[in-house]
Amino acid sequence: MKTLIIFAFCVTTSLCFIKSATGNEIPNFNMDEALSPEDLQKLEELVAKEKDIWEKKKLQDVSSSAIIDEFLDRLLENVKVIIIKNGIDPTSLPDERVNIGIGHTDLTEGQLNDTSTIQRYEDATISYDEGSRQLTAEMVLRFEDLKFIYKYHTKVTIISMTGHLHGDIEHIHIHVKLGFDFNEYKMFVDSIDFKHTGDINITFSGNGAVDWIINAMSKVLTTILHDLILSIVKNIVESPINALVDAINKIFHPTSFIL
Ligand SMILES: *[C@@H]1O[C@H](CO)[C@@H](O)[C@H](O)[C@H]1NC(C)=O
Ligand SMILES: *[C@@H]1O[C@H](CO)[C@@H](O)[C@H](O)[C@H]1NC(C)=O
Repeated sequence: MKTLIIFAFCVTTSLCFIKSATGNEIPNFNMDEALSPEDLQKLEELVAKEKDIWEKKKLQDVSSSAIIDEFLDRLLENVKVIIIKNGIDPTSLPDERVNIGIGHTDLTEGQLNDTSTIQRYEDATISYDEGSRQLTAEMVLRFEDLKFIYKYHTKVTIISMTGHLHGDIEHIHIHVKLGFDFNEYKMFVDSIDFKHTGDINITFSGNGAVDWIINAMSKVLTTILHDLILSIVKNIVESPINALVDAINKIFHPTSFIL
């Protein structure tokens, strides 16, 4: 996986380490340029070599975790830059009309902040299964503190309230499991799921705030907005990972690539 992470780094940033952790030379790839047949040949040889090394070592030495952590941290540094460059921090949130039982609330001009604070949580691990000839990398990514804001307009019979909704979600942890199959030279996403969905808090400010209406809004909106933000965050993590896996598979299977 050391090598794979290096590929990942190269593919996403067109920057590149020169040597893999096992000392193999890594060609310098740029995602925007097609690889020559010689490059591909070199890459396949490199992976075959790495595979032999992994099989001989039977994995699980302590140092591999530290190395993968370092690569992952560097990769995430680049992901942060990509998030900011693509205008994903802040992210606009969709307008919503929510039935709060006693009336309805319209949410507009929503914004989610701090998605670029993505970090590694705990040590990443790798393991190799000789039977299936698959390498697995597992990591937990976290967003420690995301903030969001919406304008609200609530109508309950003849009462009308407007103001801002301020939200805070702490400790979102996402478990990511990636695999590489040495039979087919294919990388795949095994799973991406929430290990901890985080703790959410919302407060309201504005004119004419009436306690019992605020309570009704709070109850309904907390759940709805928590789900909405989790789906957005999952997408923010999933899209670059899928793109990366596709890019890597394309490198190994340039002609047969369909998906
Ligand atoms: C989100 O970021 C924008 C731009 O940096 C800032 O104006 C806004 O106040 C932030 N909102 C929150 C809820 O932190
Ligand atoms: C929720 O709000 C309270 C009081 O403002 C604060 O102490 C707490 O840290 C917040 N929790 C989260 C998860 O944002």
